[in-house]
Amino acid sequence: KKLKDGLLSATAGSVEESKDSSGFSFEETGSTVSITVVGASGDLAKKKIFPALFALYYEGCLPKHFTIFGYARSKMTDAELRTMVSKTLTCRIDQRENCGEKMDQFLERCFYHSGQYDSQDHFAQLDKKLKEHEGGRIPNRLFYLSIPPNIFIDAVRCASLSASSGNGWTRVIVEKPFGRDSESSAALTKALKQYLEEDQIFRIDHYLGKELVENLSVLRFSNLIFEPLWSRQYIRNVQLIFSEDFGTEGRGGYFDNYGIIRDIMQNHLLQILALFAMETPVSLDAEDIRNEKVKVLRSMRPLQLENVVTGQYKSHVRGGVTYPAYTDDKTVPKGSLTPTFAAAALFIDNARWDGVPFLMKAGKALHNKRAEIRVQFRHVPGNLYNRNIGTDLDRATNELVIRVQPDEAIFLKINNKVPGLGMRLDRSNLNLHYAARYSTEIPDAYERLLLDAIEGERRLFIRSDELDAAWSLFTPLLKEIEEKKIIPEYYPYGSRGPVGAHYLAARYKVRWG
Ligand code: NDP
Ligand code: BG6
Repeated sequence: KKLKDGLLSATAGSVEESKDSSGFSFEETGSTVSITVVGASGDLAKKKIFPALFALYYEGCLPKHFTIFGYARSKMTDAELRTMVSKTLTCRIDQRENCGEKMDQFLERCFYHSGQYDSQDHFAQLDKKLKEHEGGRIPNRLFYLSIPPNIFIDAVRCASLSASSGNGWTRVIVEKPFGRDSESSAALTKALKQYLEEDQIFRIDHYLGKELVENLSVLRFSNLIFEPLWSRQYIRNVQLIFSEDFGTEGRGGYFDNYGIIRDIMQNHLLQILALFAMETPVSLDAEDIRNEKVKVLRSMRPLQLENVVTGQYKSHVRGGVTYPAYTDDKTVPKGSLTPTFAAAALFIDNARWDGVPFLMKAGKALHNKRAEIRVQFRHVPGNLYNRNIGTDLDRATNELVIRVQPDEAIFLKINNKVPGLGMRLDRSNLNLHYAARYSTEIPDAYERLLLDAIEGERRLFIRSDELDAAWSLFTPLLKEIEEKKIIPEYYPYGSRGPVGAHYLAARYKVRWG
């Protein structure tokens, strides 16, 4: 992408020709970019946003003239912000030469302004400081809302009224959650649109910025061998799996209000599903891709409670260590029924996918950390080798696995002959293991997404009709779970999750991979 245009200059932090969506380079237009991280004192800013901005600077992907401002209520000086930020910056490749110097140069471009999120005056003060740094160049301004959702609107109102760019662009990155159901999401969109046009809003789903999710379309549309098989004719089921081997640690307060279905399924897994299942877009333009994704979402069958299993982790002692229950978190109300695990069978009622179960599974405090797409193909009709395969015919069907993380890989399980005089079949992997194939480190999703927002590339951001369709699918189910106070199946911390997930899959003749 950006790297595609050969825009990288040899000198970090000074891309000579970095281009905007208008096609003009920032330098040609004498423009500048100011990035304001609203909520700069928070967890996400420290953990992801500042490190991603530094990585972009280090790689020479930021325009020559740029400034970064942290904005939050906490009192901090510029120097204190820099000290805070410096703790999480890393040179990800191999401690390359001059890394320390690059960090210092980057930190010199970082500033801080303390203010309330609902104060136009405070944002006007920020505006004044931004202008000083912009030095008369055309000001382009990006605001990253890294704050709790209940203050999104205040911050957008104040930023747009007091600190938006006069003659450049103003864009706002909004972090999830975008509401907690159709109603609240629509209200949020309506409120945002009082101050912003849709094309100024960049709703982030960081899973779309992950390398292997980006690669999904490449795999499908630039290889002859996959796309012809990509339908109900050849695919038996598709699995979308997210698991973490730690609990809600420190985010219990937020999580209890949302639960795993809203936290992971309605956005990260559903977005992957839409990309996986969409028809070929007219082009790679953002609108063409998002048009196809939204069609998939709108073709999905409403989710039935009977096709969903929920779970919650309970305390578990292993090797003398006690792992806490979800409800042991002090910020979680006692007796909370919020699911920390869910499995669901979804269906797309269109010609391509009619009858193919898309099984989703997401959970916290499970036995491993992984995010995977698993595609199980049908049996070979009249397979000549059935008797050489053994009794487990299901296990002998082809499976394509896209391991999004960790240890990124794409592998295809095939049947082959065990070498020797006999005729025994074995299952092996044709394996594209990223660490073995590529020596460069994979960029963090936030780097890709921040760079896209700076360049005005919307392909990896969620359009409002996609969001509406995603909520329409999950809202009735979520209401039913909450109204009926469905009790989650309890599973021990560090286990494989509730057995109910296996029964659900078995109902569709599926075994989880
Ligand atoms: P934090 O809870 O750390 O909040 C960020 C900052 O917002 C805080 O430092 C605080 O700054 C201010 N803030 C917090 N609570 C309030 C409040 N009630 N009223 C006014 N200001 C408040 O959030 P995160 O950094 O964890 O997340 C930011 C956003 O990103 C959220 O929308 C979250 O859902 C989303 N997100 C976070 C992820 C993560 O891993 N942390 C992952 C994915 C999404 P100050 O007091 O200085 O003003
Ligand atoms: C966030 C969720 O969106 O994604 C978290 O709110 C989750 O609960 C996180 O831990 C997982 O992201 P990643 O990139 O670490 O897999």
